[in-house]
Amino acid sequence: MEEIVEKKRSASAISTHLSANQPITLEDISAEQMKRITVGITEFDRVLGGGIVPGSIVLLGGEPGIGKSTLVLQMALGMKSRKVLYVSGEESLQQIKLRAGRLGLESDTCLFLSETSLENVLAHTAQILPHLLIIDSIQTLATETVESSPGSVTQVRECTSAILKFAKQNHTAAILIGHINKEGNLAGPKVLEHIVDSVLQFEGDTNYLYRILRTSKNRFGSTNELGIFEMRGNGLREVLNPSEQLISKTNNDISGTAVAATIEGIRPFLIEIQALVSSAAYGTPQRSSTGFDLRRLNMLLAVLEKRAGFKLLAKDVFLNIAGGLRINDPATDMAVICSILSSNIDIAIDHKYCFTGEVGLTGEIRAVNRIEQRIAEAAKLGFKKIFIPKLNKGFDGSKFSIELEKVSRVEEVFRKIFG
Ligand code: TYD
Ligand code: MG
Repeated sequence: MEEIVEKKRSASAISTHLSANQPITLEDISAEQMKRITVGITEFDRVLGGGIVPGSIVLLGGEPGIGKSTLVLQMALGMKSRKVLYVSGEESLQQIKLRAGRLGLESDTCLFLSETSLENVLAHTAQILPHLLIIDSIQTLATETVESSPGSVTQVRECTSAILKFAKQNHTAAILIGHINKEGNLAGPKVLEHIVDSVLQFEGDTNYLYRILRTSKNRFGSTNELGIFEMRGNGLREVLNPSEQLISKTNNDISGTAVAATIEGIRPFLIEIQALVSSAAYGTPQRSSTGFDLRRLNMLLAVLEKRAGFKLLAKDVFLNIAGGLRINDPATDMAVICSILSSNIDIAIDHKYCFTGEVGLTGEIRAVNRIEQRIAEAAKLGFKKIFIPKLNKGFDGSKFSIELEKVSRVEEVFRKIFG
């Protein structure tokens, strides 16, 4: 649904006169202009690689209601030593004030503007020249140069390009909030992701407290960093010790749970996998999964069926990752199959055991990356034993205060747990 109704685009013709920017040598490029602006929320700064680079644009995407406005407002109000301009096209200034009250934050360096016209926003920004410009959201902005409605592909692209140009010229950093649609795309077009310097995703399940901040693009740092937050009644709190929070300490003897030593980005943490296996009430068994790829779950069930002789075909299988988090790490496989088997035979797994290993199509346990980090995290949290792939070699296991159980096939794992 690309609308290409454009009134006037005088700037699109390539002009040959010299622009304000002149070619200069490396030596003349000021390092001052590269100094990152720290936004005061440690997890956010870390995900960006140590703060926002002046003149760069960060796109913050996420589903409606996930907490994007809360995150940026907390940031804006916390940056006392910097000038911030927060433009909202979504909420009235009164609503923002109410939210700030809920967060218990105040600031006399942060300015607020309720506006949806790009031209007006840029005029104010040029006058104020803030260190950081926040746009909530890019879908509410519209420029006069394009006739289509706000939120359309053309509008979003034109507005973003104009802000980018302004940011580069004035060394202003900008954070644009973008809603993502059901398919998980930012504002529809991938186009936007090419224009901006960094793309962050704020995700989680709105029924739960936990939120994850990930990077899918970062021109000024790695895309492996990841931040974890908890949504409280008075705003977002950074979770600095995710493992301790994501493992329930109460239901020790309940079947169907297994703990995975996982790594998201470069961050190791332990997380509880919960499975429920029951006889299928209707002809076709149900398979449902939250936080874990459903196709991968079906693959693992097929492996259990075919290679390890487990009869799960007539069973409903429900899988859940604790805290409403979404896990992409294939090393979670071993814990997933263990939780399923535990529920199926209704025998609890020792709560001092944890697992890391990818499961292949023949039922083999495949090696995982960063094995030492995973083991260290499990040891730190007081686990007694960690099941790891036999194929992970070349490290000194004796330095960890945890027993290592090396396994090469799924059947072997079950034998070792359930006898
Ligand atoms: P919001 O930041 O408005 O989400 P987004 O901008 O991504 O659409 O957050 C919406 C939810 O967060 C809303 O359901 C209320 C909840 N919330 C809290 O739980 N605690 C808080 O302190 C705040 C401000 C919001
Ligand atoms: Mg919002």
